Amino acid sequence: MHTKDKILVIGSSGQIGTELVHKLRDIYGVDNVIASDIKASNQAKEGPFEVANVMDAHQLGEVVTRHNVNQVYLLAALLSATAEKMPKLGWELNMQGLFNVLDLAKEKIIDRIYWPSSIAVFGPNTPRENTPQYTIMEPSTVYGISKQAGERWCEYYFHKYNVDVRSLRYPGLIGWQSAPGGGTTDYAVHIFHEALRTGTYECFLSENTTLPMMYMPDAIKATIEIMQADADKVKIRSSYNLAGVSFSPKEIAEEIKKHIPDFSISYKPDSRQQIADSWPQSIDASEASKDWGWKPDYDLKRMTDDMMQNLKK
Ligand code: SER
Repeated sequence: MHTKDKILVIGSSGQIGTELVHKLRDIYGVDNVIASDIKASNQAKEGPFEVANVMDAHQLGEVVTRHNVNQVYLLAALLSATAEKMPKLGWELNMQGLFNVLDLAKEKIIDRIYWPSSIAVFGPNTPRENTPQYTIMEPSTVYGISKQAGERWCEYYFHKYNVDVRSLRYPGLIGWQSAPGGGTTDYAVHIFHEALRTGTYECFLSENTTLPMMYMPDAIKATIEIMQADADKVKIRSSYNLAGVSFSPKEIAEEIKKHIPDFSISYKPDSRQQIADSWPQSIDASEASKDWGWKPDYDLKRMTDDMMQNLKK
């Protein structure tokens, strides 16, 4: 870690941003991490905060220069289910935001970028189990198309302009500190809240829909590890496969029942089922392990125990 690092987190009020800002501030100091989102937020009480629109290159550049930022974490995006409802906006936000940040690095105004990709880059023709790093992709959602195109652009900027961009293909993320918004994997967070609140949950995916998932502390750990890794260790500059735990709604419900024996779940698949059916069930993350030492800490049981304990408080 360089003591001079000044970090900007774009999309800081979202599911990942909320937790990432806390962790980065623990490591780099409150004043060295600028949180930023499109809307004002209570985060402004905790440390530096900027209202900014990532689509506005001029405004973004102004924030970066004024704070002397050298690293950007770009988390602002429309997720899979929302982007299907607003395809044009999904594409524009996910791509223009990325270009604006990549161009700041191309112009040497910043020197390192984190940008998340997703399991959504894979599609119905992808091998679904233990999906390899390099395989058929052909995403079928707007979100997946934007993430795959984004991966190609990241790698292009790395080779062509020497831009130090680092990326992970996140699976569905589960945490207790913040709510997800507009994803296909959101059920795995909602289920905990409803189990504790009402003892029942109606799931929008069918019972055996297995998807790759990850507990938020693992996702935050991976994000910071890849950003702190020596540049020569980060060999993949599109995006790394990342794996935590894979489970279905039925399996997580069974685990929750160990804490709430009367918990009951019903299933009413909606349009998100089709998205889930196009994604892998499990991911091979061996490249991340080999290159920069990735290893998750949480399995389904440990994650469920921790979620329950924290949400009860
Ligand atoms: N959790 C995301 C979604 O469901 C996947 O990247 O859209």
